[in-house]
Amino acid sequence: MAVSIKSEREIALMRESGKILAEVHARLGEYIQPGISTLDVDTFGERLIRSYHCIPNFLHYNGYPASICVSVNDEVVHGIPHRGRILKEGDIVSLDAGLIYKGYHSDAARTHAVGKISKEAQRLIDVTRKSFFQGIKMARAGNHLNDICKTIDSYVRFHGYSVVRDLVGHGIGTSLHEEPEVPNFTMRRRGIRLRPGMTLAVEPMVNMGGWKVKWLDDGWTVVTKDGTLSAHYENTILITGGEPEILTLPV
Ligand code: MF3
Ligand code: CO
Repeated sequence: MAVSIKSEREIALMRESGKILAEVHARLGEYIQPGISTLDVDTFGERLIRSYHCIPNFLHYNGYPASICVSVNDEVVHGIPHRGRILKEGDIVSLDAGLIYKGYHSDAARTHAVGKISKEAQRLIDVTRKSFFQGIKMARAGNHLNDICKTIDSYVRFHGYSVVRDLVGHGIGTSLHEEPEVPNFTMRRRGIRLRPGMTLAVEPMVNMGGWKVKWLDDGWTVVTKDGTLSAHYENTILITGGEPEILTLPV
């Protein structure tokens, strides 16, 4: 399957999908505080998504049992919400959420501080977020995919962290995962040429220590192998004739 180019009609729907998800994330961010469980986050998030008459696209995806991926500290992504997992002051928590609006998917992730966190943890969150913004400066028609990938990679390395290699970003549209794959590390090839109308989920996952990860026995939760903290930042973007449009940020 080739990389899809969205029509103006589809782009309008992707924009609306992204705008709702931006609102969901803003509300989720305000909701995070010490003492709540990761299941509380999922329950709140699912209700919120449904309140916009949208569908949580992660729920039952390949058997994933929740609507929001809630990953704490050394958990990189795909943490499964649980009522026994209570957020405490000093934790960092990555929330990955997505939804379907009139058949069009959006996907975004943020890492939040729980109460007061260490300077080191805050720096990890900041570098991860900034690596996304550095990367998408290259997300322009005529550039190649690897221009985004290598920019994220070198920004993260420059700050002494490492990029997860086992999981990647992706095209998005009428499916959550479309072509192409969007790695956050330098590829050995240029990758596809970017064209207006492509929609991509760009999602750096950054570890404080080494890049290696492992899967927990629940089959989902990805954690850092060395137990160091990990942060995640993701938006759905649109390639245009000029600057990329970030669909999952408040407008
Ligand atoms: N945001 C994730 C991704 O880009 C989706 C979570 S996978 C799920 O792949 F199974 F948990 F939904
Ligand atoms: Co994604």
